[in-house]
Amino acid sequence: PETITVQELANRMAARVPEVVKSLMKLGVMATATQTIDADTAELVVGEFGHKSKRVSEADIEIGLEGVQDRPEDLTPRPPVVTIMGHVDHGKTSLLDALRATNVAGGEAGGITQHIGAYQVTLESGAKMTFIDTPGHEAFTAMRARGASVTDIVVLVVAADDGVMPQTIEAIRHAKAANAPIIVAINKIDRPDANPTRVRTELLQYDIAVEEMGGETQDVEVSALKREGLDRLQEAILLQAELLDLKANTNRSAEGAVIEARLDRGRGPVATVLVQNGTLRQGDMVVAGTEQGRVRAMLDDQGKPVIAAGPSVPVEILGLSGVPSAGEAFVVVEDEGRAREIAEFRQRRQRDSSAAAGAAARGTLDQMLA
Ligand code: GTP
Ligand code: MG
Repeated sequence: PETITVQELANRMAARVPEVVKSLMKLGVMATATQTIDADTAELVVGEFGHKSKRVSEADIEIGLEGVQDRPEDLTPRPPVVTIMGHVDHGKTSLLDALRATNVAGGEAGGITQHIGAYQVTLESGAKMTFIDTPGHEAFTAMRARGASVTDIVVLVVAADDGVMPQTIEAIRHAKAANAPIIVAINKIDRPDANPTRVRTELLQYDIAVEEMGGETQDVEVSALKREGLDRLQEAILLQAELLDLKANTNRSAEGAVIEARLDRGRGPVATVLVQNGTLRQGDMVVAGTEQGRVRAMLDDQGKPVIAAGPSVPVEILGLSGVPSAGEAFVVVEDEGRAREIAEFRQRRQRDSSAAAGAAARGTLDQMLA
């Protein structure tokens, strides 16, 4: 009855899953992200993270960070967030470019300069989808390690003339670990040596059975080069999104994840964030990892200033105190005092844990020398 998953607890505290797991271990509780813990244990963890918690009901606790609980009636559909993965040279970037060229919003089609590492495409039907410009497998892993699950759907690009290759297999593993459904895009079908059937057969070895093979994984033959099959790929994404029943509450303060961040010489720290719930507004006070600040300006994926961004919308934000790490959660808090308090708490904790890690490393070195 009175339970919460580790993932959800981490989300509500804008903390990383491994940190929550570690904190639980200290309490003698072994749990993974998807496992549930009881409310009493959750309260202890919340306390340890320096947050205030409140029993909202017998069955639930509220965490004094953002503390907004969404009621089912407040939830509305949100666009899917899609990550494109696959082996080197199988056409990930070409496919992203081709998909971006189908965007009917924003005017500029094709060959536009991409301003941020994520962008949203609006189809003629009005449907929207968000693409995370391939963060690379390492970045994907790092983000997952930080507890950020930003991807709803993975599009697995496999070149029809090359078939399943090592990084294809790695991508499959990542998608499965992240619990993200896969859509297979069999690319380069324009090539004379293309053999899509071979791709489908090879995928069976990795537990991916496409529809033609009697399974349930959607596959689409595409040519990023000739811009063929893109509409079918988009339909497949929308169908998958529908099955996932993706929803969010636009009428609350925002939370989400940092996709990438850098220090810009003129503008200071610049972070690309993905809003996962709520609406982020210019002037909001945010905490992202150990950094905080007021959103001074926001730019959309076309580099145009915006004053608000809803669920599944990627934006670039200016105004943070420093550069947060990719995959770190961000959350809007009520005021500057609270933002500083949380950021400083996290900085202290980070220093403590790196000091502890240093001590542990020295320990092993001592043992080696002994
Ligand atoms: P990395 O980022 O290096 O991993 O590669 P990638 O997966 O992003 O592949 P990219 O889009 O750079 O494409 C690799 C090569 O394949 C380029 O020379 C593309 O022109 C070519 N290519 C991509 N898609 C197609 C296609 O549909 N048909 C053909 N014939 N060539 C393609
Ligand atoms: Mg590429």
